[in-house]
Amino acid sequence: MFYFGGDYNPEQWPEEVWAEDVALMRLAGVTAVTVGVFSWAMLEPTEGRYEFGWLDRVLDMLHDGGIRVVLATPTASPPPWFSLAHPDALPVTADGVRLTHGSRDTYCASAPAYRDACRRMARELAGRYGGHPALTMWHVHNEYGTRCHCDHVAEAFRRWLRARYGSLDRLNDAWTTAFWSQWYSDWAQVLPPRATQYLPNPGQVLDFRRFVSDELLAAYIEQRDVLRELSPGVPVTTNFALGGWVPIDHARWAREVDVVAIDHYPSATGPAAAEQIALAADLARSWARAAGVGWLLMEQAAGMVYTPGRILAKAPGELVRHSLGHVARGSQGAMFFQWRAPRGGAERFHSALVPHAGPASRVFQEACTLGTLLRDLSTVDGDVVADVAILWDAQAGWAGEGPGVPSEDVRYLDAIEAAHRVLYRAGFTVDFTAPDADLSGYRLVVVPSLYLVSDAAAARIGGYVASGGHLVVSFFSGIADVDGRVRLGGHPGAFRDILGVRVDEFRPLPPDEPVKLSTGDSGQVWSEHVQLIGATAVASYTGGVLDGSPAVTRHEFGAGVAWYLSTRLDDPAYGRLLADAARAAGAVPPQPGIEAVRRGSWLFLLNHSDEPVTVPAAGVDLVTGRPVDGTVEVPAGGVAVVRPPGFV
Ligand code: GLA
Repeated sequence: MFYFGGDYNPEQWPEEVWAEDVALMRLAGVTAVTVGVFSWAMLEPTEGRYEFGWLDRVLDMLHDGGIRVVLATPTASPPPWFSLAHPDALPVTADGVRLTHGSRDTYCASAPAYRDACRRMARELAGRYGGHPALTMWHVHNEYGTRCHCDHVAEAFRRWLRARYGSLDRLNDAWTTAFWSQWYSDWAQVLPPRATQYLPNPGQVLDFRRFVSDELLAAYIEQRDVLRELSPGVPVTTNFALGGWVPIDHARWAREVDVVAIDHYPSATGPAAAEQIALAADLARSWARAAGVGWLLMEQAAGMVYTPGRILAKAPGELVRHSLGHVARGSQGAMFFQWRAPRGGAERFHSALVPHAGPASRVFQEACTLGTLLRDLSTVDGDVVADVAILWDAQAGWAGEGPGVPSEDVRYLDAIEAAHRVLYRAGFTVDFTAPDADLSGYRLVVVPSLYLVSDAAAARIGGYVASGGHLVVSFFSGIADVDGRVRLGGHPGAFRDILGVRVDEFRPLPPDEPVKLSTGDSGQVWSEHVQLIGATAVASYTGGVLDGSPAVTRHEFGAGVAWYLSTRLDDPAYGRLLADAARAAGAVPPQPGIEAVRRGSWLFLLNHSDEPVTVPAAGVDLVTGRPVDGTVEVPAGGVAVVRPPGFV
């Protein structure tokens, strides 16, 4: 059975509304709701005084209604009494401003009082509800991702650095502290990157990001271990927020959860939203698979997202299509933020499955359609298989955007999104893979702007190509070692031999000043002087300082092929190049012209266009219930899920 439901906050409503909630959940086919995410103040109104009566009634009521409960620990939003009692547990910005309670996420994850209070709360909840029959999953906290720069953090950062480097000498070397007289003679001098005069040390900034991810992970693990101890057998997770601002290495975190759970809110509408959904789902599936667990879309919007200055409303049909976009790519369901729209509070205009207008609304009707559909799809199972992969490494992204890089316009997420977007548009299903992963199952591996890479990972990538793999690497890759220090002898240091090129000069491009290429395409953002040391040029720069020098190259390396892109191609040209490389590598796109994803034996067809699309298929369309004999027509904005013939 798929998870279908959303964040449910009954504490915001009088109890009379609860019965209507359960009746409407049953009507919509809701199977699970997430309870308690922001309930700390209602569960512990003053320090040590717990009020669980209301939550007892909620869980019992949901159980009686046949709705499963994903029970959250409410530690993302400590109540006002907590901050007043423990002012040292309030976060401090890099500028030294200590924040005040009044919003959410206002805590320092390194403050002992906060960590103690979180463990206590997890213990109380697990002790009371660990065996409740409605409980299906634990949901620790909410979207870990806060930062603090206080003295507790300074101490924890130093502990983390000692464990990483062992000695100050090693740290001084890794951070190149001989530069600008930053050399440390005592651990006590080492601080988080607080506001300073000019550019901070890039090694310090990179390690702080790594530390923040590990420190928050340690806070999660403490709660998880309490829940596992008192509530054995119930899966534990936490919901991952996605986006460049999130200081979390999700691939690393995935190894510590029983289910990878993501929240996903596209920052665009229309087809661009569908592309973002495919990317988020492919990331989640890939993190989960590498960790040997499943994954679930824990939150998405039912309609409008409240984003200051921007309206991001969903078009009719998108609630269903977006949900199936995730399910097609392996999600164990489609959950929403939130069940019922609140009357007040900062997110009162954030959409909900039950909007302010109530159930007599388009959104609620679509929710009912989705509920029925997910029930009809309950036999869907199996994994998604891709023969093209994009290499993803959060830490390389952090390092490549650190202080003092040659171009602020080289953004890691942009590079990842562009590679995924053009492959998606060409019809390829894409996995993400990690620098330390086995690449041998992929026909083509794309490496976008991987600034930092270890020697071991570079060797593994080289071995993949040498034994017949196909590789496409884009500019600003292989530049630095694991400490973020530049590799010498010409760029892209770690990949020079594999790519058969040597770069002796970067020439980042100003905004809107593209360079022309011999193919008639143009390059943006970046250019560089490329020398061939074994590769052949397939496109050259035309005009300007780089006139005639190689822009795109191809190198036969061992039994494989390695391509290099020294500039950012526009989407159509990049798409052509990757599609050609993929086809040459033997990858076959399943079905261009529509979003087509095979999950196990089931073929998901999502039509994001305004025209019907006809696709070859055979079996039964589980959406219409009709047999499919050779072709299926997917209506404009519609979906089809074809079960193969002979399925019992
Ligand atoms: C996140 C949070 C929710 C809510 C939504 C709004 O996903 O987890 O509590 O704030 O964003 O988009």
